[in-house]
Amino acid sequence: MSRSVLLLPGDGIGPEIVAEAEKVLNKVNEKFSLGLSFDTALVGGAAIDAEDTPLPADTLDKARKAEAILLGAVGGPKWDSLPMAKRPEKGLLGLRSSLELFANLRPAILYPQLASASSLKPEVVSGLDILIVRELTGGIYFGQPRGVRLLESGERQGYNTYQYTESEIRRIGRVAFEAAQQRGKKLCSVDKANVLEVTVLWREIMEELKGEYPDVELSHMYVDNAAMQLVKAPKQFDVIVTGNMFGDILSDEAAMLTGSIGMLPSASLNSEKQGMYEPCHGSAPDIAGQGIANPLATIISAAMMLRYSLNEDEAAEAIEAAVSKVLDQGLRTADIMSEGGKKVSTREMGEAVLSAL
Ligand code: IPM
Ligand code: MG
Repeated sequence: MSRSVLLLPGDGIGPEIVAEAEKVLNKVNEKFSLGLSFDTALVGGAAIDAEDTPLPADTLDKARKAEAILLGAVGGPKWDSLPMAKRPEKGLLGLRSSLELFANLRPAILYPQLASASSLKPEVVSGLDILIVRELTGGIYFGQPRGVRLLESGERQGYNTYQYTESEIRRIGRVAFEAAQQRGKKLCSVDKANVLEVTVLWREIMEELKGEYPDVELSHMYVDNAAMQLVKAPKQFDVIVTGNMFGDILSDEAAMLTGSIGMLPSASLNSEKQGMYEPCHGSAPDIAGQGIANPLATIISAAMMLRYSLNEDEAAEAIEAAVSKVLDQGLRTADIMSEGGKKVSTREMGEAVLSAL
């Protein structure tokens, strides 16, 4: 079996945080004799600059062959005025769809050491542990037709298509039900079935699947209410399953409940459990190159990669324990800094995790 890991640093703070995660991966590779080999490739704006495309053929080729991928982030103001097909985000979306990474797992966990970082009252968020399962290769992100067209009236009209097939809904539903079985056995499916037919079907399929998972309690919620409930009483949720765009929005909201999007990892898996792992935060161009970004979300994403795609639970646990230890030591990058913390740089945080290992 190939044990190759592809690193895609990308743009903005991507290269800085992936560099720290790479050190951590090298360390566990040695310590636990994992036999992993690493390769690096360009994606996003970095690839546009070098090769005039956000997803070079060589990158896609390496990605297909890798057992797992660790991505930093893509995008930045430098490339914002490019036409849609040439923007850095297309690199990411192209990887997701080419590798059929349909299942996006986004945990929102409140680290007890960072309880005061949340903007919500401690009693509302303490102990928070939600998993958002977002469909990642369908829905309005990929539906055809799409574009901007000229109407007979002379006015331009922008349009996208929100669509899901039954099989697309069923496969993401199964991932979510199975995740719920492993956790608190509660699944909330989020839709807009009071307005959108596509989500009426979504709800129907989720109901159908329920019979296969009798130990999981399924509920449904409209997305507007879900957005409200997430800030009102987030602990009512265990696993949330939803479509691509609602998942994009709700996962940012859920991440912020924890006070620090700089701590949250994500996994995007296909049916062979090949996966791409990335921090939930973006490329943060405003702080890129300053050495102040938080590398922990990427480091925890690397742990997730070891667990889900490489079946190396022990190494994953070691990384997670090391992260917890540096938080206990009071080390904080700027984004999670609070009273009494010791402020550290990106590199110092990475080094601290290494020592804790
Ligand atoms: C995310 C991001 C991406 C998305 C962008 C960068 C295309 O917001 O991973 O949540 O919308 O999916
Ligand atoms: Mg997003």
